[in-house]
Amino acid sequence: MKTAVYPGSFDPITNGHLDVIIRAANVFDKLVVAVLNNANKRPIFTVEERVEFIRESVPKMPSCEIIVTSFDGLLADFAQETGATTVVKGLRAMSDFEYEFQQALANRKMNHRLDTVFLMTSEKYMYLSSSLVREIGRHGGDISDFVPLKIQKRVLEKLSK
Ligand code: PNS
Repeated sequence: MKTAVYPGSFDPITNGHLDVIIRAANVFDKLVVAVLNNANKRPIFTVEERVEFIRESVPKMPSCEIIVTSFDGLLADFAQETGATTVVKGLRAMSDFEYEFQQALANRKMNHRLDTVFLMTSEKYMYLSSSLVREIGRHGGDISDFVPLKIQKRVLEKLSK
């Protein structure tokens, strides 16, 4: 069974993340979507909210078991604990590459069996990020094209507080 981990802050999950999850679920047998419990990044949404938003947004996929959870510490260690030998990352533009390249090599240095695969997001979401959603939502803008329908109301409520 091929298991991959898709890590991130997901503060909150966007349609771009969801696009990557669905693409990865078409490649792997099991996908662990892992929310970093990153208090130092001062996320807007709690780790419980971020996990719940993802669970509610992800569709059932016949060929892949999708698990949504959170993790602390190093991704390389978490991957080993979960039996994942692949990290999935979404690439939007070349500007993402340098950072992702560094992370991928650092992760493989720490866990020799851990490779990273990059999936291209749909061109519709090339510009999309959680920080953009937070910024637009905070000012009462329309986020309906950016985050999954089921969570839009709760995301907006919290952002506009
Ligand atoms: O959505 P993000 O914030 O770009 O995700 C970044 C994430 C969570 C993938 C990255 O920060 C991470 O893996 N953090 C855990 C600590 C770690 O292992 N860092 C990489 C090696 S230094």
